[in-house]
Amino acid sequence: MSLIIAIKRKRSTITMSLITATFIALALCFAPAPGAAAIWARRPLRGNETLVSAQGRFELGLFSPAGSSDGRFYLGVWYKSIPGQTVVWVGNRASPLSGVASAELRVSADDGNLELIGPTAASASPVVVWSSNLSSSLPGSNNTAEIRDNGNLVLMDGSNSSNVLWQSFDHPTDTHMPGAWLGENKLTGEYQTLTSWRNAQDPAPGMFTDTLDPNGTSEFFSMWNQSRMYWRSGVWTGRFFARYPEGTRNLLLNQTYVDTPVYRGVTYVLYNNESIARMVLDLTGQAKRYVWVPARQTWQLFWVGPTMQCDVYALCGAFGVCNQRSQLPCRCPSGFTPASEAEWTLSNWSGGCRRSSPLTCSSSGLTTDGFLALHDVKLPGDSLVMGAAQSKAECESACQNNCSCQAYAFSVGGCTVWHGELKNLADSDISGSELYLRLSKRGLEDLQSVVRKKGGRKLWLVLGITLASVAALATSVILTWRIVSARMRRLVSIANVNGSSLAVYSYNDIRAATKNFSERLGGGGFASVYRGVLKQQMGENTAQVQVAVKKLESLCQGDKQFRTEVSTLGCIQHVNLVRLLGFCSSGNKRMLVYEYMARGSLDGYLFRVGACLSWRERYCIMVGVARGLTYLHDGCHECIIHCDIKPGNILLDDNMSPRIADFGMAKLVGRDFSCALTTMRGTVGYLAPEWISGHPVSSKTDVYSFGMVLFELISGQRNSEGYSEVEAAGSESSESWIFFPVWAAGKVLEGDVSALADPRLNGEVVLEELKRACTVACWCIQDQEGQRPTMAQVVQALEGTIHVQAPPVPRVLQQLVT
Ligand SMILES: *[C@@H]1O[C@H](CO)[C@@H](O)[C@H](O)[C@H]1NC(C)=O
Ligand SMILES: *[C@@H]1O[C@H](CO)[C@@H](O)[C@H](O)[C@H]1NC(C)=O
Ligand SMILES: *[C@@H]1O[C@H](CO)[C@@H](O)[C@H](O)[C@H]1NC(C)=O
Ligand SMILES: *[C@@H]1O[C@H](CO)[C@@H](O)[C@H](O)[C@H]1NC(C)=O
Repeated sequence: MSLIIAIKRKRSTITMSLITATFIALALCFAPAPGAAAIWARRPLRGNETLVSAQGRFELGLFSPAGSSDGRFYLGVWYKSIPGQTVVWVGNRASPLSGVASAELRVSADDGNLELIGPTAASASPVVVWSSNLSSSLPGSNNTAEIRDNGNLVLMDGSNSSNVLWQSFDHPTDTHMPGAWLGENKLTGEYQTLTSWRNAQDPAPGMFTDTLDPNGTSEFFSMWNQSRMYWRSGVWTGRFFARYPEGTRNLLLNQTYVDTPVYRGVTYVLYNNESIARMVLDLTGQAKRYVWVPARQTWQLFWVGPTMQCDVYALCGAFGVCNQRSQLPCRCPSGFTPASEAEWTLSNWSGGCRRSSPLTCSSSGLTTDGFLALHDVKLPGDSLVMGAAQSKAECESACQNNCSCQAYAFSVGGCTVWHGELKNLADSDISGSELYLRLSKRGLEDLQSVVRKKGGRKLWLVLGITLASVAALATSVILTWRIVSARMRRLVSIANVNGSSLAVYSYNDIRAATKNFSERLGGGGFASVYRGVLKQQMGENTAQVQVAVKKLESLCQGDKQFRTEVSTLGCIQHVNLVRLLGFCSSGNKRMLVYEYMARGSLDGYLFRVGACLSWRERYCIMVGVARGLTYLHDGCHECIIHCDIKPGNILLDDNMSPRIADFGMAKLVGRDFSCALTTMRGTVGYLAPEWISGHPVSSKTDVYSFGMVLFELISGQRNSEGYSEVEAAGSESSESWIFFPVWAAGKVLEGDVSALADPRLNGEVVLEELKRACTVACWCIQDQEGQRPTMAQVVQALEGTIHVQAPPVPRVLQQLVT
């Protein structure tokens, strides 16, 4: 009985699946759904249909750039699995379709080319706007095209699918995908280059190009308008590009360069085939490497070149002023407006700025033009020196008397003038350099009237007050009261901001203390640090206190939130942490005032030629930093993850005792923090794998970075840059590059750590301490967070109160070995 039932059931399943199969087949024949498998002569891709790769990673179809509404359509490839449309390849970059209704991507029945036809602005009937352009000697019209799971659009010989006739990887637009090549096909002389989009909504070729050196070296250049080089990779050394080792090889990817009789160029692979990463030459002229972070659903920037936005040649066009730290890199000086407002808002600044009212200089040299001072700018390079002019007035008239002279500057160096369009103006942190820009009389008057209007309002106010004498009396009373109460409030605020003893400074206090921000000590992507001197009341006397003022940029936090965050920072006090003394929050300006550490950061002591820390000093620094971190992780009200432990953030006090700086930044700076962090040169080397792959960070992320710093303290060289020394010291094959921590982990396993110590120490180390430090460092950099010790355990291990076993070699890092 039961047997029969079983058979019957089986039969019905078979019938069901037959029906399903037939249905699917029918559906494919009569109602082609989006997501077709391939394109061939009788099966074109029509209108809104798309083609999806086998595992669903990429999608090919027609798209309209995000935000555009003027009905332009392009053939493109984008990630299917990522929200928002990140386009990685565009076919008809410069010849958009005007509609999709009659558009078709097809294999030409005549010559087997893949071609896109459709209506354009110029022609309502379909025309060919893009073609794979292969010569007519093609196998024929039974070619097929498909989109692959690496994002490559491929046209294959229909009778032999391993014969690839054309592929999009050979014709990149602005994106270099993993597995694709950039370089030169030596047989055809064809180059694979990246070219930026023209603006945020137009994929037509823009101003910036990344290309392999046409003169035959292995170097890559970033070029402006195909003519002016503004960034170079350095030549291939056999293992990395000389000027950016950390971009060539890091925790995520490995780049290789080949030079054969057929091809020379570069490609890269990701260590983890599950990660999604790309490199794009974007509208700012910078090449940027991104990795998709599923946990945060964002693209995380992890490398950028050139690092400085304003190093991109003519980014802001003629008369445009570049600002390194602003979200919008370009602005126009007073008296100027963007040449094209529309392009400017679409992030194409190359058109630059124009005078709001034109110059009035006639060929006879008669002019009423004047000059407007532009303060604190980096002067453009292409100037002429006017030796004859000995004073500012002479310099000005020398410029004024020549109609083509656009600007002048006068300093101790003499008089310099500029003719033609001024490119590469940039805001400068170093105050003092002034540029005088030529403006017409009318232009200057317009600017003055704006100022006068503002002044006029004040005048009326004063008049009104004078007229009402009673009101004036009242006002003065109120004013006096205000000043007194403001003083009182300030006294109170020094004593107590939410329980912490932080001083509150006004912007003017800070400006005076730093002499108008004249002495810059350093800074990164989101802040600049200046030196200053503050007067402090100490009982009867005033004392002068040296401080470091950290000016936060690009902070979107409101005043109240900022005060809350800062007051929690004020409670954090430990001998191994830099002490926060006070802050300033005025308008949109946010500043933190710290005690000043005259010796500067560990960087300077560890890597500087000539300086050498003794083993004693190094070990004290190791233990001190570990204690400071333990306090941050366990000793505070809530756990504070530093996120940016590196030698540059470890300052040294007068006793050479370490003080950790910059803690609490992740919360203060918020979202921009991770961006700013990873774009800074070299920081990548200290970031734990989970940070880069987007998993939530924990205190173990700091433990990883601390391990990296330990190795640098031991070896006296940067982990990322000390390749050659490592080779010389290593007894094994000197041909292979080994990341220092990996080599060190091997040595720890072998029980031979003496080779790891900085050669400059001449063996003057405490071997027992060296062993402990090396072992602890290896445990700290384990792939799995669970395997890394806590900072409290690190302190105990370094102090020798707990014994530590030899650790395994971390797997992720091992992949960095050639
Ligand atoms: C194909 O060739 C035509 C004519 O030589 C040219 O105008 C067009 O730009 C080429 N298209 C591509 C995609 O290279
Ligand atoms: C298919 O094409 C590949 C690459 O062009 C070639 O090496 C191979 O011999 C071809 N196979 C056949 C069966 O023609
Ligand atoms: C870019 O180069 C082309 C030709 O080399 C030139 O005609 C054009 O004016 C240049 N563009 C700018 C903005 O200088
Ligand atoms: C990644 O690599 C593993 C092992 O090599 C393989 O089994 C897996 O299919 C790959 N995954 C993808 C998405 O390619």
